[in-house]
Amino acid sequence: MNTIIIFAIKYTNMENLIVLNPFVVGRYVSEKYFCDREKETEFLIKQVENGRNVALISPRRMGKTGLVQHCFQQPRLNENYYTFFVDIYATSSLAEFVYLLGKTIYETLKPKRTAWAEKFFQIIASLRVGFKLDAVTGEPGFDIGLGDIQAPQTTLDEIFRYLESADKPCIVAIDEFQQIGTYEEKNVEALLRTKIQQCKQTLFIYAGSKRHLMNNMFHSSSKPFYQSAISMGLEPIPMETYAVFADRLFEERGKHVSRRVVEQVYDMFDGCTWFVQMMMNELFALTDHDGTCDVEKLDEARQNVILLQESSYKDLLSRLAPKQKLLLQAIAKERLVRGITSSAFIKKYNLSSASSVQAALKPLLKNDIVTQCDDTYRVYDYFFSEWLANTY
Ligand SMILES: Nc1ncnc2c1ncn2[C@@H]1O[C@H](COP(=O)(O)OP(=O)(O)OP(=O)(O)O)[C@@H](O)[C@H]1O
Ligand SMILES: [Mg+2]
Repeated sequence: MNTIIIFAIKYTNMENLIVLNPFVVGRYVSEKYFCDREKETEFLIKQVENGRNVALISPRRMGKTGLVQHCFQQPRLNENYYTFFVDIYATSSLAEFVYLLGKTIYETLKPKRTAWAEKFFQIIASLRVGFKLDAVTGEPGFDIGLGDIQAPQTTLDEIFRYLESADKPCIVAIDEFQQIGTYEEKNVEALLRTKIQQCKQTLFIYAGSKRHLMNNMFHSSSKPFYQSAISMGLEPIPMETYAVFADRLFEERGKHVSRRVVEQVYDMFDGCTWFVQMMMNELFALTDHDGTCDVEKLDEARQNVILLQESSYKDLLSRLAPKQKLLLQAIAKERLVRGITSSAFIKKYNLSSASSVQAALKPLLKNDIVTQCDDTYRVYDYFFSEWLANTY
């Protein structure tokens, strides 16, 4: 009993300590700091419970990763499944994919100490080279490098066999799934699809923001993953719901926020979760205890957020070709561009020709730096857009 109470106090303190600012950006902490997504959570869990794989496709920074992590915390999944979360954004080959998958599974299971966890190296024999016992604690560990993945396909086979041997079904969420389409080996999609199809008790959630790549993977009849998953998207959290959430977070910490602030922030970014949370985080920081955050603080908050990101903007710009840079700056200055190859736009920003605009636009779209809605283009990151427009 005492232990439980001490743990509860420690845990609460820990959570409050970590979460000094309740507008959390960049990670999932807990239900308390997570706004809404009730319908989406229900939908996703329901698909999984009915044995269906899910493809979660939405624009960047809308909240895909957060949603998957939130679902994994729900008792319906948490208690009845083993859940694994692998972000493959930085991988570029099957060996890296296999490495990350193996490592994630091992590290997720290690603290659970179940009989199944103990069988990891027994079934995944090709990773046995990485099995080490800590000299001091005697604890087993996973000490494996990428170079140890000598035969990725064999290891992948073993990993799937291992997942299928669990005493509960497994759910594997693969974040930034579109990445597998860019691997140096050409057959990875087909290979994975075959393996996944053979699974009897392992389910998959594929999340991705590169919509054209994801849509192509799941909706084009010539591709291996065609119709192999239920597709779901994510819209912005409704304004009303977000306003109630933001108000609660301010009030709980002895601060106040005017409704107009939340409405203006929401409209500024069309409700896109990351941008809204980032601004609210800064506005919260700028508000004194017992104080009220009002619209006068908006400009300062925007400037502060932009300042925080400035070095990454510079870094991104430095990696663009001169023509891409020129076009990007032109789009930022216009904010919204219609008729991107029109002679008026080309002339106004000295962009040489329609074909050179087309050529420069392609990689900007592909890398989600610029986004297109019907025939209108804008810089995807609102803060980056403002920085570009003001700096050049
Ligand atoms: N429902 C929510 N309530 C509060 N904050 C959220 C919610 N969903 C996401 N966030 C926050 O918004 C930010 C973006 O969310 P997330 O990383 O999940 O988006 P994403 O769609 O996976 O983005 P990307 O495409 O860049 O990977 C994160 O900082 C996260 O903490
Ligand atoms: Mg994500």
